[in-house]
Amino acid sequence: MTTGAEPIISLKQLSFSYGKRTILESLDLEFTPGSFTVIAGESGSGKSTLLYILGGFQRPKSGEYLFQGRRVYRLWGEYGLGAFRKRNIGFLFQDFRLLPFLTVEQNIRFPSLFSGQALNITQMRSRMEKLGIAHRSRAYPTEISGGEAQRTGLARALLMNPPVLLLDEPTGNLDHATEIAIVSLLEDIRREGITLICVSHSAYIMQHADRVLDLAAGKLTERSKGGPPKKRIKRAVK
Ligand SMILES: Nc1ncnc2c1ncn2[C@@H]1O[C@H](COP(=O)(O)OP(=O)(O)OP(=O)(O)O)[C@@H](O)[C@H]1O
Ligand SMILES: [Mg+2]
Repeated sequence: MTTGAEPIISLKQLSFSYGKRTILESLDLEFTPGSFTVIAGESGSGKSTLLYILGGFQRPKSGEYLFQGRRVYRLWGEYGLGAFRKRNIGFLFQDFRLLPFLTVEQNIRFPSLFSGQALNITQMRSRMEKLGIAHRSRAYPTEISGGEAQRTGLARALLMNPPVLLLDEPTGNLDHATEIAIVSLLEDIRREGITLICVSHSAYIMQHADRVLDLAAGKLTERSKGGPPKKRIKRAVK
């Protein structure tokens, strides 16, 4: 997006590898506040790994990750990173990571226990309605469907209205009607200025994004909107 705003996140020559296997190679990338980016790519290409780095969960091997101009992984150890995540990041994990001993609603409210901010219960309930999980609020994770678990994870990620929302395949298990409801909620959230970064292969989600980046062989390339994946270009996307 070309709003001219300072980026909320910048990656500079950022690389990551598992052992000798390079997953992300010298990425240069910027996210402006309120932008909506979709990341696509084959299974195993490193999309979730990239989200973990953006979320403050995974330390890159080299390069810089700047959040509002601060060098996140240089400034903070594990404790500081925890505080960084709590303040700035909402994360929907690919495997949802619901706590099995808590109900749907308790899972959704969980981040408020540590946030130090008041919980907006009206907003939480209205989002649960919109996501079609309000009627399952007292069920436990073993008693709900995969799609309901996914929407519970999404409601939890949104709870404290973090400035950056990272979503790992938010509509992977869902029918199109539910996907439409989710995208409509994401659009509402975006209007509040929240930056959305979403791993997805859904054409419907891509239509609503500002840009689609394809991850392959450790590099990102930008797709022309609505078009098929581009051939790899030498320079990484800015
Ligand atoms: N802890 C780990 N140790 C070693 N290799 C790992 C580890 N975690 C992931 N990998 C490997 O790194 C690669 C990238 O994984 P990642 O989960 O980021 O892929 P992905 O693009 O999200 O795939 P998918 O679309 O299947 O979710 C994969 O080949 C995966 O097997
Ligand atoms: Mg993944």
